[in-house]
Amino acid sequence: MTIQQVFVIGAGQMGGGIAQVCAQAGYQVTLHDLNEESYERGFQVITKNLTRNVEKGRMTEEEKQAVLGRFTKSLDLQNAKNADIVIEAAVENMEVKTSIFAELDKITPAHTILASNTSSLPITEIGAATKRPEKVIGMHFMNPVPVMQLVEIIRGLATDDEVYEAVEEMTKKLKKTPVEVNDYPGFVANRILMPMINEAIFTLYEGVATKEAIDDVMKMGMNHPMGPLQLADFIGLDTCLYIMETLYEGFGDSKYRPCPLLRKYVKAGWHGKKTGRGFYTY
Ligand code: NAI
Repeated sequence: MTIQQVFVIGAGQMGGGIAQVCAQAGYQVTLHDLNEESYERGFQVITKNLTRNVEKGRMTEEEKQAVLGRFTKSLDLQNAKNADIVIEAAVENMEVKTSIFAELDKITPAHTILASNTSSLPITEIGAATKRPEKVIGMHFMNPVPVMQLVEIIRGLATDDEVYEAVEEMTKKLKKTPVEVNDYPGFVANRILMPMINEAIFTLYEGVATKEAIDDVMKMGMNHPMGPLQLADFIGLDTCLYIMETLYEGFGDSKYRPCPLLRKYVKAGWHGKKTGRGFYTY
């Protein structure tokens, strides 16, 4: 299984970062989003990241131009027809993901690996929306993608060993470290991280301390580089809520109930850094 052509779905914070590291590793990348505006927003972030790399002496102007030259824009899912691997990073919503995967199953050749960057949704269920569940796998990058070392690789119930190995090898080519996990809600990263963030939101909701105090306790007391409320803003409060709902539904345990304050912020459209307002304003 040789991977050359990568098709990334979603030019948001994750999809843009994934497309960037793939192009930097020498892959031909088609970046796909629903409309011109979303695509351009994502592509501008990538260009800005690369320019910063040149300014800091981490790459030359020629290397930057070569990376940008490996990009193709897509606003039509049919463009996935030449992909060796598709990495989906659209919104964290099962209906959206299963409809994308069912479409991809029809569009892409039989050898194409279909990967999802989902933070918590079951890979097995996403795979069941296709006729090739053995080629469906989770490739969970961390935010911000160009900086973070880890990729959780999630085996669905039917994922082939050969597919797992191809994705593991690709992850290493991206200069990241793959960690193998099985398909249970939240996998490992978010099963542990998200209840902590949710508890921090409850702590704020119950008036135990201010948002700054909660973040300070975790930064200075636990040596976390960022407090949980600030981290939630960076992840996106909509994504945090989707993940908590997935844990709650998947385990049926009340310890995973999302904090009402999180729900309220999401309903208000306060989705964190990406919308300019979450627990903090940006
Ligand atoms: P985002 O909101 O920044 O970006 C999502 C992008 O997908 C947007 O540009 C949107 O226009 C596009 N999109 C939505 N529906 C689409 C469709 N049907 N077809 C094509 N494009 C579509 O979201 P973000 O943060 O990049 O999250 C994307 C995925 O990555 C989610 O599944 C999320 O759970 C996962 N993830 C997020 C992390 C984070 O820290 N934000 C970390 C790891 C995974």
